[in-house]
Order: sequence, then C-alpha cells, then structure tokens
Amino acid sequence: MRAVILVGGLGTRLRPITYDIPKALVPIRNKPFMGYTLDFLREAGIEGAVLSLGYLPDQIQEYIGERDDLDGFTVDYAVEDEPLGTAGGIKNAERFLTDDGPIVVLNGDVLTGMNLRSAIERHEASDALATISLTSVEDPTAYGLVEVDHDMMVRRFIEKPSLDEVTTNLINAGVYVLEREVLDMIPEGCEVSIEREVFPRLQSRNRLYAHVSSSYWRDIGTPRSYLAASQDVLSGAVGLHEDFKYMDMAESVDMEKNVRILPPVSISSGCEISQLATVGGRVSLGKNCRIGEGALVEGSILLDGATVEAGAVVRGSIVGPGARVGQNAIVRGLSVLGARSVVGEGNVLDQGIRINPGVVLGPRSVSF
Ligand code: GTP
Repeated sequence: MRAVILVGGLGTRLRPITYDIPKALVPIRNKPFMGYTLDFLREAGIEGAVLSLGYLPDQIQEYIGERDDLDGFTVDYAVEDEPLGTAGGIKNAERFLTDDGPIVVLNGDVLTGMNLRSAIERHEASDALATISLTSVEDPTAYGLVEVDHDMMVRRFIEKPSLDEVTTNLINAGVYVLEREVLDMIPEGCEVSIEREVFPRLQSRNRLYAHVSSSYWRDIGTPRSYLAASQDVLSGAVGLHEDFKYMDMAESVDMEKNVRILPPVSISSGCEISQLATVGGRVSLGKNCRIGEGALVEGSILLDGATVEAGAVVRGSIVGPGARVGQNAIVRGLSVLGARSVVGEGNVLDQGIRINPGVVLGPRSVSF
C-alpha cells in the first residue's frame, strides 16, 4: 500500500518561517518535519509515498535525495505548477498510484502517534469509499467539526462553530484511507478541496466513515502549534518510537564554562553557549547557534545559525535561520523572526509579532 503526502501548501499561517522553508521541512528537534511523517508511514508498513508538491518543491526533493536510509520505501514526486488544493493534489499523484486497493493520504503537517493500521483495518471492514481519522480537541470552535453516528458513519460537517453550535469535539486529523473510486470523482487539473468538496459528496451518499484516535495529535500549521509540537517531542509526550533523550546535546557545547542547561533540550552541533547563559525549558537549538554571555533562551526554537547576543532574552518564541537578537533585546510572547532578520540592541518584541526575512530593526526602535 502507498500513501500520498500533501505538502504543496504555502503554509501562510507559519510565515515568516515558511517564506524560506516549506512547512514540511521545518525542524523539530533538529529533524526536518518530513522525517517524522516518513517514520509514521513506515512504522505502519506503508511501502512508499507520492509527495504532492507545489511550494518550494526543490528543497523537499533535495531532502529526500540526501536520505540513504529509506530501505526500499519508494518516493515519487507529483509537482503542481499552480496549487490544486488538497483533492487536486491527490489527483495529480494518481499516475504514480499503480497498485490496486486503497491508498492512504495524509497532510504533511500532522504529528501523531495514532495507529494507522487500525484506521486501514476499520476502512477495509466497512463499505466506505473513504475513512477519515478524527481526533478530539479541547477548543473545537477553531476547527471544522465532524459529527458521526454510532456506526461511525459521518453525518455532518460543522465549519468553525460558535459555542452553542458545538455538538462534538471531533475534528478531521488530516489522515485518510481512500478507495480508488474517489480519485475518479476528482476532475483533473483544477483546484479541488477534499475536505470541502469531495467528503461532503461522499457523506451525502453514506459512503464516508470515521476512525477515532485518542493518540497524540497536533498539526504544526501555526507558530503556536509548531512551538507546542517541538516542546511535546522534547518532553516525550508524543510517544514516538525513536529513542527519547531528555538532554540531547552536541559535544561542541563546553560544559566547563559556567552555563546553565535545563533539560529537556536539544542542542545541535556547532552551537556555542557563553558564560552565564541559560538555555532550557524545552528549547531546541539548530546547528551553529550562538548564545551570548548572560543570555536567556527558554521554551523556544532557534533554527540553524541563529544568534542571541549577550544579555538578550528569548522566551516562548521562534528565531528563524541566521536571525540575530541583539544585546539586551527581549523577544517573547510567541514572536517569530524570519530568516536573517536582526532585532537590534534593546528592542522588546512581544504578542506574536512577526518580523519578515532580512528585516533589520535598529537599536531600541520597537517596544511592543
Ligand atoms: P496555510 O496557508 O497556513 O493554511 O497552510 P497550508 O497551505 O499548508 O494549508 P493547510 O494547512 O490547510 O493544508 C493542509 C495540508 O495540505 C498541508 O500539508 C499542505 O501542504 C497541503 N496542501 C494545501 N494546499 C495544497 C495544494 O494546493 N496542493 C498540495 N499538493 N497540497 C496542498
């Protein structure tokens, strides 16, 4: 059985990080996100995947090309000239789906410990044309909800309900099993959404079923959820099969210096941490990051080559590749710095502010 991984979206909600890195490759614990997606499929015995690409496809192909550990897991690429939407992207992958039988489809931004095999078994035991995996969320008002009956047949979709319309807390987890007939329902070469166009048609024919998973699930589509997913992986909440290390630190860090490292942390190779700096509380540092004297980095993600200068504070935020936080500056409250941006000395960034790639904020120019 093969899968289609949908990774063609622009990832607008995760900008400015996704201006430079496609969402499928943003790192979690220094591993490109796609690595987790491939592990998930391989652990479920899926034999290969078609990557449905459109935005920054070269980076994704290069990442796969560099992996020499795929052991027979075959990967094909279906690249869109224009975004074809989630169903259009699956249709575009059809030429690579030559086996008989159902296919697995998943959004390339989902981190989950769900049991894919049991979703497939459930699908095969029913007369469903498609089976959607569902997961429960605490605040259902931000999502599209899916109402099911006792036989797990999908009854209704409720798009971003107000509190008094909430009848369920189950949402679409972005993992599907589809019969090939579903591909025949999707017109070729045009933009079609599987969630908004194909699934409602299947539901009206009583051929859409659900599989409910209570395992860990999160998508990484926003800065808040990306940061939360990174922290969950660091603290072992995801239940991944790979070895969990509470303190995952490259040897380059000189522990002889007077530095405070508070696990869980992940510190990649080439990082330099200066005297009296504190790094911890579910922090992930990419390669070659520099943390200056007395700086504090807490509950954050720093991508490759990021610098936090002396006395600066980065808390609960995301610092893009090569970005620099100047001396005594404060970056907190889910702020996001784009690649190579500079926050000059003494600035204070807060409340989810986002700085685009390459932008330079002069010293003490913002106190947000
Ligand atoms: P936002 O712009 O922030 O909403 O992100 P997104 O573009 O990734 O959209 P969304 O999160 O709704 O997409 C869910 C999944 O479908 C992601 O893995 C996307 O990469 C993928 N996707 C979205 N649109 C397309 C498309 O037009 N073509 C393909 N091939 N995949 C898509």
